[in-house]
Amino acid sequence: MSTVLSAVAWPYANGPRHIGHVAGFGVPSDVFSRYMRMAGHDVLMVSGTDEHGTPILVEADSEGITARELADRNNRLIVEDLVALGLSYDLFTRTTTRNHYQVVQDMFVSVRDNGYMVEQTTSGAISPSTGRTLPDRYIEGTCPICGAGGARGDQCDNCGNQLDPTDLLDPISRINGETPQFVETSHWFLDLPALAGELGRWLDEREATGLWRPNVIRFSQNILDDIKPRAMTRDIDWGIPVPGWEDQPNKRLYVWFDAVIGYLSASIEWARRSGDPDAWRAWWNDPDALAYYFMGKDNIVFHSQIWPAEMIAQNGKGDKGGEPGKFGELHLPTEVVSSEFLTMEGKKFSSSKKVVIYVRDMLERYQPDALRYYISAAGPETQDADFTWSDFISRTNNELVAGWGNLVNRTAAMIAKNVGEIPEAGELEPVDEKLLSAIRDGFGVVGSLIEAHRQRAAIAEVMHLVGEANRYVSETEPFKLKAEEQRPRLLTVLHVLAQAVTDLNTMMAPFLPESSNAVEKALGGDLMIAPMPRIDEVEDLDGGPGYPVITGDYTGVPAWEHRPVPVGQTVVKPTPIFVKLDPEVAEQELERLEAEAEAAAAAADADAVADD
Ligand code: MF3
Ligand code: ZN
Repeated sequence: MSTVLSAVAWPYANGPRHIGHVAGFGVPSDVFSRYMRMAGHDVLMVSGTDEHGTPILVEADSEGITARELADRNNRLIVEDLVALGLSYDLFTRTTTRNHYQVVQDMFVSVRDNGYMVEQTTSGAISPSTGRTLPDRYIEGTCPICGAGGARGDQCDNCGNQLDPTDLLDPISRINGETPQFVETSHWFLDLPALAGELGRWLDEREATGLWRPNVIRFSQNILDDIKPRAMTRDIDWGIPVPGWEDQPNKRLYVWFDAVIGYLSASIEWARRSGDPDAWRAWWNDPDALAYYFMGKDNIVFHSQIWPAEMIAQNGKGDKGGEPGKFGELHLPTEVVSSEFLTMEGKKFSSSKKVVIYVRDMLERYQPDALRYYISAAGPETQDADFTWSDFISRTNNELVAGWGNLVNRTAAMIAKNVGEIPEAGELEPVDEKLLSAIRDGFGVVGSLIEAHRQRAAIAEVMHLVGEANRYVSETEPFKLKAEEQRPRLLTVLHVLAQAVTDLNTMMAPFLPESSNAVEKALGGDLMIAPMPRIDEVEDLDGGPGYPVITGDYTGVPAWEHRPVPVGQTVVKPTPIFVKLDPEVAEQELERLEAEAEAAAAAADADAVADD
């Protein structure tokens, strides 16, 4: 048993989540965390909303509300979206808590005390017409690294490199198209060159494990070649105050400096709320602890470079030495698990252009486990994937309903009709043994695939076993075993089926939590197969305003292993667990999308700035 940190990317509080977001960080991290708990590990799954930074400020400005008001609204929406999808966070919090501010400022001070923050003057952009600071993200130009147009002043989405606004070729303001003016301004820079040696050693060691996805490790190592100090403060008045610069409220810590520290601050908040304020150390200070970070590929650099660099600096382990800060020796990521991008009907998601399917809209019309199934089976695990409505419908109908749902339904229906309870098995025939042993072997196979973050292959293997069980029904034809002398054989077959469904349901639990509880009920059981998250309204621990968090009690889950089905358990006529979709739904959804995109295009222009 190990302590396992599931560190899930923090969604920007700039709007509700769309299915591309949850395909990248949400479902994969939940499948993994649920599995690891069942495999007996001590999992701490944390995240929260990422509420600082320019996009939120600019959006709030355009709505005529404060950034905090906008963040409050979106934090709540996002919390609701993620709970509706059954994501089992131990704590999903936010970056505007007092606890987070304190932890971030303590990290900053430790990093600076160890010598890894250097003050430098740089040139910052202002808008010549208004004189206001022009946020990095709202400067657009040609990427100096890959040559793509439309790169932003903070990052190029095409090649994934971080940029500074001054790096851009032909910069213009996305707000009004004017050419920004650059003026001298002072900032704290993280001394990445002094941390690069240690970062490189850590990455080499990680590479040797062979665990990281090849593109992720390669990208992480490549960006070490051209490493330079990076500004960790910004000219902005929304964000965490810079220790020592309290008299300069227009300078704040860079949103990415604070967001990645959220993994630590959320763990500390969880521990403080649990009544054992030091409990977080088991996940952070123990060198044998495991730490997995889940995100979309545009986040890799922050998780394989900036965050480890911050920790190395706090630990005093870079070229300049130093002492571990207040948090002791922090443990670097075991693995940065990054997914690729999800597109929709061949197009890139865009909230402003309304090329988007929001989680909440989808869940109004479809079952959460249908979406979870789709993402697990067809998501952008190691290459970009395209969501299409027709694919969603056919996977739901042909795989979930006709495959797994049908197996559960016919098993429960035949037991209810012929016996009324789970029967005892008589002597097993080879065909029975063959199915049961294939399923028993499935635990090892599926478990290793999930542990290796190969969830598409894992769910495919479970579905393959579901197919075997359905084939077993065709072979043994229990519905034909009507004669009195065939009754012992009928009972055996029904027992074998109940056992098969029970074990397959254990394997389904990480993927389809809500329906795994329903399957358990269909067989007359009342075990909590997959505990669900809940929303708690909590007080800020240090006197700030209250907020909703996602949390839950995920203890007592069944072990990831064969569990003998309880003979004698009452089974009544089942109701179908999965809803079959009308193929016409695809057309309706496409029409809806088109109408929304047209309306958005009509209303476009200034709005396009708030895109994400
Ligand atoms: N807010 C970022 C995004 O949505 C992710 C931040 S992950 C963090 O792309 F944990 F580092 F904050
Ligand atoms: Zn680029």
